[in-house]
Amino acid sequence: MKTVIFYYTGTGNSLWSARLLAEKLDGGKLLPMKGADPFLAGDAEAVGFVFPVHMWGIPGPVLRFLEKLTLKPGIYYFALAVNAGQVSRTLIQLSRLLARRGAKLAAGFGIVLPSNYIPWGGPGPEERRNELFRQAREKIVEAGGFFTGRRSGLIERGPLWQRIVFSAIYKLSFKQVPKMDKDFWCDDKCNACGICVNVCPAKNIVLASGKPAWQHHCEQCLACIQWCPQVSIQYGKKTPAYERYHHPEVQLKDVIG
Ligand SMILES: Cc1cc2nc3c(=O)[nH]c(=O)nc-3n(C[C@H](O)[C@H](O)[C@H](O)COP(=O)(O)O)c2cc1C
Repeated sequence: MKTVIFYYTGTGNSLWSARLLAEKLDGGKLLPMKGADPFLAGDAEAVGFVFPVHMWGIPGPVLRFLEKLTLKPGIYYFALAVNAGQVSRTLIQLSRLLARRGAKLAAGFGIVLPSNYIPWGGPGPEERRNELFRQAREKIVEAGGFFTGRRSGLIERGPLWQRIVFSAIYKLSFKQVPKMDKDFWCDDKCNACGICVNVCPAKNIVLASGKPAWQHHCEQCLACIQWCPQVSIQYGKKTPAYERYHHPEVQLKDVIG
């Protein structure tokens, strides 16, 4: 096992990116971070991380996964931070985190794909989404070449103002994330199919009296609202008007663990 790529995803953008990267890396093995054995990458020469940017930084589940992972100084570590246009300080955060544990992030690229952050709106017009897919594909090929050549020194980041302002917001919001599920609700279209229960990586949803109930250990991946086939799950007041999104080449079965 030469190359291992660990991924975390809510709506498939990161899984799609990781799959494409694995193809470019010629036999890179893809493993979900969720439930992964931290020793799995034991004999790998190169280890990659592909995950979404959440609130201008690394999502909690990815941080917890990284804390458990066995890191070794000689391994080539690389990453794709999948985002909707504001990678901010995410890859610097990853680089420092690995450095503290004696490992080095050789290179990290930001990959821009349609936004799944539905409280702020839908994923944008189809034409724009297709353009993002095209650009992302090109960039992942470029990143693949960079990683295959074992090059280093490129850690992408957002502008300075973004890194300062949004890092502060990340730090302030981080502890609130588990309880941010208080704004989820579900309308009359719910038929208690249980997909939200199964797609939630945090096992944060139970069906109570035939309706989803969120248990306040949310990861804010938004898989529940985005994958609901009845478009019944809502968040706050505005989401009834917003289009749902998941990556078109990723299916529900691919994200249910
Ligand atoms: C809670 C949350 C916070 C997000 N914060 C950011 C952000 O800070 N910057 C950004 O560019 N995109 C942000 N996004 C958008 C996602 O990073 C983006 O849509 C990503 O492609 C989703 O990947 P996934 O489909 O693998 O989950 C956020 C999404 C969620 C759900």
